[in-house]
Amino acid sequence: MEQSIKSIAVLTSGGDSPGMNAAIRAVVRTGNYYGFKVFGVSRGYSGLIEDDMFPMDNRSVANIIQRGGTILKTARSKEFRTPEGRKIAYNNLKKRSIEALVIIGGDGSFTGADIFSTEYPDVICIGLPGTIDKDIAGTDFTIGFDTAVNTAVSAIDKIRDTADAHDRLFVVEVMGRDAGYIALHSGIATGAENILIPETKTDINEIIENMTEKEKRQKLVNLIVVAEGDDFGGANQVGKVIQESLPNADVRVCILGHIQRGGSPTCLDRLIASRMGYHAVESLMQGKKNVMVGIVNNKMSYIPLKQALKTKNKFDPQWLKIVKILAS
Ligand code: F6P
Repeated sequence: MEQSIKSIAVLTSGGDSPGMNAAIRAVVRTGNYYGFKVFGVSRGYSGLIEDDMFPMDNRSVANIIQRGGTILKTARSKEFRTPEGRKIAYNNLKKRSIEALVIIGGDGSFTGADIFSTEYPDVICIGLPGTIDKDIAGTDFTIGFDTAVNTAVSAIDKIRDTADAHDRLFVVEVMGRDAGYIALHSGIATGAENILIPETKTDINEIIENMTEKEKRQKLVNLIVVAEGDDFGGANQVGKVIQESLPNADVRVCILGHIQRGGSPTCLDRLIASRMGYHAVESLMQGKKNVMVGIVNNKMSYIPLKQALKTKNKFDPQWLKIVKILAS
């Protein structure tokens, strides 16, 4: 394999996700193994603009594979959205002869990377999908989704216990501004009766009718999982309307929030983060440019950053049929 690049930098950007540290570790150690000079950038694109970068050796990533969050910190940089901000970032990279950037983040981060690599083609951008939302095309997994969904499952299991003890109806809100994957996976895994997601239109009357039916059949625990970005307006709104329509029901709302973003990554997240981080460096060695490294059917896949953004992960409506049948 031919290697012409000498220096690379790694950063984490956008919402953090469990497993980002494992990915940083893999990029740093693989980069060092192949003789690159590896820099870490603090606070995502903000660190590029503020010139906050430092060399990373293998010891600098010791004891982080099991830690949530990101040792590099993360941010959503407004300045990087401007041509002036990107020019400063470029100059700071050039000052250190950094020729490639590994960006661990979600769709917003890839948008920035795509614009940057178009404006400055001599800096190669490699994206690693790091988001709990799983809303990126070209990969079966995103770093952090598995941990987030398992956090949601263990929280909802606990809620089910108390719901059962009181014969209550619980509306649980999980994260997902634009995507319903956390809701769908955690809802099916916890036996939710209804799962409300941004990808489909919510018919609250149908849900209420269904519940009236179930009440007649004396199904006492009702669990509704709502993605925060659902068109009906989130768990508070859903809970309020159901309570008004079913005055005999004892309705409670629980918003899980940011606990879904933290915590020690699962084995799966550590594994995919390690593989993706390793292959980010390998792909640079092979001369790949401006692609996202993903995993499809257990094989590494490389799609242009633009494509990862344009084609959102397709939602299969059969999932909701499964929910309906299994909750009957
Ligand atoms: O990381 C993605 C995400 O979890 C979205 O589902 C959610 O809406 C968003 O982050 C919230 O992020 P923040 O609180 O950092 O703005």
